[in-house]
Amino acid sequence: TRNGVEFAVADLELAEFGRKEIRLAEHEMPGLMALRREYAEVYPLRGARVSGSLHMTVQTAVLIETLVALGAEVRWASCNIFSTQDHAAAAVVVGPHGTPEAPQGVPVFAWKGETLEEYWWCTERMLTWDGAGPNMILDDGGDATMLVHKGTQYEAAGVVPQPDDNDSDEWKVVLGLLRESLAADGQKWTRIGQGVRGVTEETTTGVLRLYQLAAAGDLLFPAINVNDSVTKSKFDNRYGIRHSLIDGINRGTDVLIGGKVAVVCGYGDVGKGAAESLSGQGARVIVTEIDPICALQAAMDGYQVKTLENALPEADIVITTTGNKDVVMAEHMARMKHQTIVGNIGHFDNEIDMAGLARYPGVRRINIKPQVDEWVFPDGHSIIVLSEGRLLNLGNATGHPSFVMSNSFSNQVIAQVELFTKHEEYDNEVYRLPKKLDEKVARIHLQALGGELTKLTKDQAEYIDVDVEGPFKSEHYRY
Ligand code: NAI
Repeated sequence: TRNGVEFAVADLELAEFGRKEIRLAEHEMPGLMALRREYAEVYPLRGARVSGSLHMTVQTAVLIETLVALGAEVRWASCNIFSTQDHAAAAVVVGPHGTPEAPQGVPVFAWKGETLEEYWWCTERMLTWDGAGPNMILDDGGDATMLVHKGTQYEAAGVVPQPDDNDSDEWKVVLGLLRESLAADGQKWTRIGQGVRGVTEETTTGVLRLYQLAAAGDLLFPAINVNDSVTKSKFDNRYGIRHSLIDGINRGTDVLIGGKVAVVCGYGDVGKGAAESLSGQGARVIVTEIDPICALQAAMDGYQVKTLENALPEADIVITTTGNKDVVMAEHMARMKHQTIVGNIGHFDNEIDMAGLARYPGVRRINIKPQVDEWVFPDGHSIIVLSEGRLLNLGNATGHPSFVMSNSFSNQVIAQVELFTKHEEYDNEVYRLPKKLDEKVARIHLQALGGELTKLTKDQAEYIDVDVEGPFKSEHYRY
């Protein structure tokens, strides 16, 4: 704590650099800046105590300061051990008007290169407020929401289960943290769960967890699925990845992508952006899919569709985008060509079997530089793994650029305002924002790009059965 601001970041002296990049990013985030102007006199988030778990980048700094501009108090942690940009974290703590000696900003608990213990410590600090707990959660991947739900569940049972051999190292850390907190305060997570008015969730993987909780009747508060706003998943997941996937590969390896064979596992929104990113550099892309519809889309887009097993002998680069587990296994990696680059861009690190790789008989790990490892197999051939199998665009590069994140984060801010101000109108279910708001977010960003929108005549609007002012599509339209 310094000057009354609690924090745990790498170096507050980085704040000035962070502030300069935040200033440039603000211009590239017209949606967030428009929301600041729209709500300038209204402060719809006055009284909100937002606990946020989302990659602590420059773009997220603009989001955080937008929430503050709307009246919220905020505490923040990253949702990944490698994704923090230390200068952004420092600038948020210092705030626009503070100094490293006298910070005036927001409590942030995040630095690049956390251990798993440190990561969960940061998540816990972010959720722990002096006095009252948070009344809103802003989540990316659902770790904060999960901690509150598991904590509540174990407090009700009065016991935290012992880990078993099949549990991941990370889950053992979570159980350890919850066991300690149960011993210290048997009601901590229950109180937090009861105080939260709602959560807004950023990504596909977190949304899946929310629907599972809701289906089981276990969701403790209403949730807004921000990911499935069209201006989020059809833009961030796709065009954001198109930008940041090759950025991560380039910064990690600087290998020429043109002419290489790149395998993209999964052809959802992220996979589509990944394939375009790699083929844009001249790679020959092969897609693996389990869903015939997405597989057919890949074929129509000009990519070969194969199983991973059959694609492996040719692959120079293998990227997972599925949000599923066990997609690239140790046996696959053992069969790859020398110096094949292996990376994941889905939310969690279980798409690539890193545990199996580490256990592979005779395998050796050579660290090349932070977030780049060469793994050498006993036969002498090696593969290059980026970000230890965690999302490489944030681990090896700086994630998506500002403009696309402005779309995502505009939806986040709108969703926070909606749940904070109207939580009584919502049940403990998962909701999406109305299409009208999606169109509003798109309109702001189109305008910023100088796009000219055609206006419907009244007659035309009647003919296609929509309102002149929108929404312009039915709910089942897929874009
Ligand atoms: P999606 O559901 O649109 O796409 C995933 C695709 O993977 C689906 O088409 C599915 O059929 C396919 N798939 C599932 N299991 C498979 C398997 N074993 N082999 C091959 N294909 C398989 O999901 P979306 O939106 O593309 O997100 C994917 C992941 O990326 C999620 O974990 C999401 O949270 C994450 N994400 C990461 C971002 C980043 O900046 N790194 C940005 C946005 C999302």
